[in-house]
Amino acid sequence: MDRVIKQAKVIRGRVRVPADKSISHRALILGALARGRTTVENLSPGRDVKSTIRCLQDLGVHIEVGDDTTIIHGQGLYSLIPPNGPLDAGNSGTTLRLLAGVLAAQDFSSTLTGDRSLRRRPMGRIIEPLRRMGAEITAREDNFAPLTIRGGRLQRIRHEMELGSAQVKSCILLAGLHAAGETVVVEPVPSRDHTERMLRFMGAPIEIRGREIRIRGGELAGRRIQVPGDISSAAFLIAAAALLPGSELLIEDVGINPTRTGFIEALREMGAEVSILDRREIAGEPRADLLIKAAELRGIELGGPLIPRLIDELPLLAVVATQAQGETVIREAEELRVKETDRIRATVASLRKMGAQVEELPDGMVIRGSGPTRLKGAVVNPQGDHRIVMALAVAALLARGETTIRGAEWADISFPGFFELLEEVRVD
Ligand code: S3P
Repeated sequence: MDRVIKQAKVIRGRVRVPADKSISHRALILGALARGRTTVENLSPGRDVKSTIRCLQDLGVHIEVGDDTTIIHGQGLYSLIPPNGPLDAGNSGTTLRLLAGVLAAQDFSSTLTGDRSLRRRPMGRIIEPLRRMGAEITAREDNFAPLTIRGGRLQRIRHEMELGSAQVKSCILLAGLHAAGETVVVEPVPSRDHTERMLRFMGAPIEIRGREIRIRGGELAGRRIQVPGDISSAAFLIAAAALLPGSELLIEDVGINPTRTGFIEALREMGAEVSILDRREIAGEPRADLLIKAAELRGIELGGPLIPRLIDELPLLAVVATQAQGETVIREAEELRVKETDRIRATVASLRKMGAQVEELPDGMVIRGSGPTRLKGAVVNPQGDHRIVMALAVAALLARGETTIRGAEWADISFPGFFELLEEVRVD
């Protein structure tokens, strides 16, 4: 579906964004493995989270999906039943990689697959450690879904990760929860820690010492989990409000886990005014309200440990950088090439079409801003990637004339209602 977006003048309002996708996946999976009932308030309505629900139902988990509350009737670690056919993770890397860690410990054979995008994403990073733990896994070219996993009794491992990836870390931790002895995962740089926080919240024997995470076999207890708004979804509105002169926007109840706030830090370094109000913690996750006021921005350099903390916001940051004074350089972000699409290539191609000066690097981008650059409306193709769709919608608000976004419905992967909310806060 095409969406036509016109230039906007100002962003104003007080809004909420849909619940955090990462935390929602984990609430469902850990709830399914727990003993007793887990009540999730404010589950993400996104299509990716629906994929996790469907896979768990195919594994025999009883889930009651309500409007505000979802109840998972967990029956313990070994209660899953063999599915009738392949488990379809759709577009969702988190669904596939986290469930692979669980299925590696089940005494049956199952197949995980997904859509065209997911079937092209690398899985060697989870296959290798899961095999070392004792699972038998076959995969297309030994690296891509469909993945067939013959699970069984797992043994502990020590896994030194080569890249900062919360999906890989979580996969091994979930397998480790089923293994004899203590499994250790060592991260090169910290990635989002929602799995660790929720495992602890549900009573798992988990210990964190610097970059080492240790988990032993253990049971989980069903709990009540309230999911905050998704900071990665809020980011699009934050960017729009930070860029359009005279804007002021309050976003209520957003997760501000420090492993996820890299985008806010980068924006502040560029000169943006983002205030974090009324900090509080619920179900092991910090949250707050965010107040954004437009300001003039300058270019910055990004790399190193900041990258995993804003990995999903980098295409959007490139859009922001087109409006800053001076050059913005993004390095050490090669992981962007193996997301739902090659996000470096897709971002550069579309922003160039809109008149921005952007250069592709093997591991990032260079964006030459010259203060509010006059982006121009164009027809752009986000390659079926939800985050690129929404980053380009923000670019469209800044561009002269009209921008047509192809495949705009992909926003539903993480942010159903995104375009409606954008209409609500824009003032022309
Ligand atoms: C996610 C982790 C990140 C992120 C993805 C969600 C998660 O991927 O890009 O959108 O929920 O664990 P990697 O861990 O592979 O970097």
